[in-house]
Amino acid sequence: MKIDGKSWRAIWPIGTEAAEVIDQRLLPHEFKTMRLTELNDACIAIRDMVVRGAPLIGSTAAYGLCLAANCDSSHASLKVAGEKLCATRPTAINLRWAVERMLAHLQDVLIAEIPAEAWRHAEKICEEDVKINHSIGTHGLKLIREIEQRKQGAPVNILTHCNAGWLACVDWGTATSAIYQAFDAGINIHVWVDETRPRNQGAFLTAWELGKHTVPHTVIADNAGGHLMQHGQVDMCIVGTDRTTASGDVCNKIGTYLKALAAFDNGVPFYVALPSPTIDVSVDDGLAEIPIEERSGEEVAKISGADSQGVIRSVNLLPATSATANPAFDVTPARLVTGLITERGIVKPERDALLKVFPELFAKS
Ligand code: MRU
Repeated sequence: MKIDGKSWRAIWPIGTEAAEVIDQRLLPHEFKTMRLTELNDACIAIRDMVVRGAPLIGSTAAYGLCLAANCDSSHASLKVAGEKLCATRPTAINLRWAVERMLAHLQDVLIAEIPAEAWRHAEKICEEDVKINHSIGTHGLKLIREIEQRKQGAPVNILTHCNAGWLACVDWGTATSAIYQAFDAGINIHVWVDETRPRNQGAFLTAWELGKHTVPHTVIADNAGGHLMQHGQVDMCIVGTDRTTASGDVCNKIGTYLKALAAFDNGVPFYVALPSPTIDVSVDDGLAEIPIEERSGEEVAKISGADSQGVIRSVNLLPATSATANPAFDVTPARLVTGLITERGIVKPERDALLKVFPELFAKS
């Protein structure tokens, strides 16, 4: 997508020597890129959320394996590198998916040819991500058009949570893909952006990228969504997901479940946009089986922003003696989800429906 008129992606290779990413920890105050030149750089970038978002951490892991292969392309060493990458963040399944796909692809490649082939395959994974997310947007656009027709030109109000935009993918985004396509098609849309405490991916990242594409949007405190839904100010919710189970349960950024409950209570359609690598058919019951990342309490206790001189500072919010807890994701049961927007169309959040549309995923399990 564009930043000040110039096309960018969230990750790109520098020959076969390095991968470059946007340092998302600094947005929206500073725009800087970071070069990853060895496996450890990729691990730190994922763990410390220089990059984040399920599809993007998968792509970063793919390049992480390329960087590992540049040093030692033996299968044993790549397997260890893959384990190291998978240990950085536990919830988003795209990370493991990308590592397993890279390792399976390189399995029968001659050791001397592995580095070059690894770079080729990582790039293929990224290109596929772009195509998949564009398709998700095309299907989501049909839903937005239906609301547009019903509202006869009045703005279509879409609520989103966290950042499921192009910064969370290679390009387009999952939840935002339909939004960008609707905006580009001239549909009158407006986005309610949940700030998404504690890391503020909505306020810092979604707001920034929508702003750069000039999509009308309003940032709200996380607690405001239910109120807006009660007052008819939300036409639909579209969120992303870090892992969706065989039965259609959706694991996403903490707070998604509360939005789904409010949407259900108010008859607001609640859609989840997801690329197929986010579907984990090895898991059925999301609540019982998905490991939820517990992040540092510092993220709850502190907040960062730019002061009046533009200097980024972090300040304490809490009494020094207060304990903190910071579960980073929650699970929204399938019964609260209206539909899954996938690259192959809108799918009911049910095993049979997913099986029909993605038979190959179930065949492998
Ligand atoms: O902790 P993050 O910022 O990696 O969490 C990201 C989300 O929860 C996104 O909504 C999700 O990955 C879907 S991404 C397209």
